Amino acid sequence: METENTIQGTIRNPKRTENVIEIRGLHMSFGSNRVLKDFNFVLHKGENVVVLGKSGSGKSVLIKCIIGLLSPDSGSIYVFGRNIPELSQAELDSIRIRVGFLFQSNALYDSMTVRENLEFPLRRHRLNLNKEQVNELVMEMLENVGLPYTVNMMPSELSGGMKKRIALARTLILKPDIILYDEPTTGLDPITGREISELMLQLQKKYNTSSIIISHDMKCVEFIADRIVVLINGTAYAEGDFENLRLHKDPLVHSFFD
Ligand SMILES: Nc1ncnc2c1ncn2[C@@H]1O[C@H](COP(=O)(O)OP(=O)(O)O)[C@@H](O)[C@H]1O
Ligand SMILES: [Mg+2]
Repeated sequence: METENTIQGTIRNPKRTENVIEIRGLHMSFGSNRVLKDFNFVLHKGENVVVLGKSGSGKSVLIKCIIGLLSPDSGSIYVFGRNIPELSQAELDSIRIRVGFLFQSNALYDSMTVRENLEFPLRRHRLNLNKEQVNELVMEMLENVGLPYTVNMMPSELSGGMKKRIALARTLILKPDIILYDEPTTGLDPITGREISELMLQLQKKYNTSSIIISHDMKCVEFIADRIVVLINGTAYAEGDFENLRLHKDPLVHSFFD
């Protein structure tokens, strides 16, 4: 597959690897609101790419297009070599199992215990597992996020940081190849945000995932990004590593780092 990127910038790891996501000429509008305009993007295997953009710039819309929750006006979105907008519902489902999504809101089920929340994706997608295997996976994921003792608790009994960890554990339980994080540290205090960033990086190494992280928490961005794409006016306006963009001559870009 062609990996040439037309966007100018320095990339920390220029080694050519497999493209797990490749977006070309993506356009997405709501009525007269043109949110994405010829957006181009590549995620290489094993990479953590941050998409940086102001509130309302289309970051969540981008993620929803990637997982097929929104249909773009035009353009291609290849995930593992399959063009998402062209897939049938069944084909889309088979790709989605491999793409974990951490919602900004966590989206835990309030009426279910932590265990039931974690079991939920398994009951839908891993019907071959027996009770013992389900329990093992639930406990493995809770150990991963340092919260095995919360297994019988309700989400309402958890702090914001704990809910984020549980949501992360639930995302990981299907062992996805790609994880899409929508503002994973927004609304958390700086220390908890740092802990979540560390956990994301640690689990990325453990399970060898590739990630897109939507964020404007610059501490999280600096810590986690192999590469940063700046989304401005619906396009991938600039791209590079943290230092490269921080020192960028264009104020639209370096102002994110002030
Ligand atoms: N389902 C929708 N219907 C209409 N407009 C939407 C919808 N989802 C997002 N938008 C609009 O698209 C723009 C980008 O939204 P979003 O991607 O949520 O921004 P953010 O970068 O803050 O995540 C905003 O102007 C928002 O109002
Ligand atoms: Mg958003």
